[in-house]
Amino acid sequence: MKERTLVILKPDAVNRTIVGEIIHRFEAKGLKITGMKMTHLDEDILGEHYSHHKGKPFYKGLVKFMMHCPSLLVVLEGNHAVDVVRKLAGETHGAKAAPGTIRGDYSLSNQCNALHASDSIESAKIEIKRFFRDNELFDYSRIDTEMIYAEDER
Ligand code: CMP
Repeated sequence: MKERTLVILKPDAVNRTIVGEIIHRFEAKGLKITGMKMTHLDEDILGEHYSHHKGKPFYKGLVKFMMHCPSLLVVLEGNHAVDVVRKLAGETHGAKAAPGTIRGDYSLSNQCNALHASDSIESAKIEIKRFFRDNELFDYSRIDTEMIYAEDER
């Protein structure tokens, strides 16, 4: 089933110059980039995005870290995209994430864990709307679609 999901490449990924490598992994998997932009997230939008973490001991540090520099916001599309991207990202804590996953390969931290990825189809819809206007999302076909999906999967 075709889904869209939101990825935030966090300030550690930007500073450590690994955004290209991370985006390459998504592209190589067959996921389609349908939206992408750089934004310096502010306290208001982070308060909304991380509202379910308000009051937790790591909340203030997380928001401060997320405002360190601009982040890259990416919308990815593909069959089962939400689950696929979560699996590619790996476990939240970089030190616990399996090698071969993005966090497993590029992070040792709970906070500086390279990326955020929507955790369900419902939250993906909400998060994409939070960060992207309709005219910032693009419908197009990747030329290799026939080599990514069988006819009945497209
Ligand atoms: P993210 O997917 O951006 O969603 C919430 C973030 O909170 C999570 O990734 C982690 O970076 C961060 N986080 C979760 N638990 C902790 C923790 N115990 N200490 C520090 N950061 C945390």
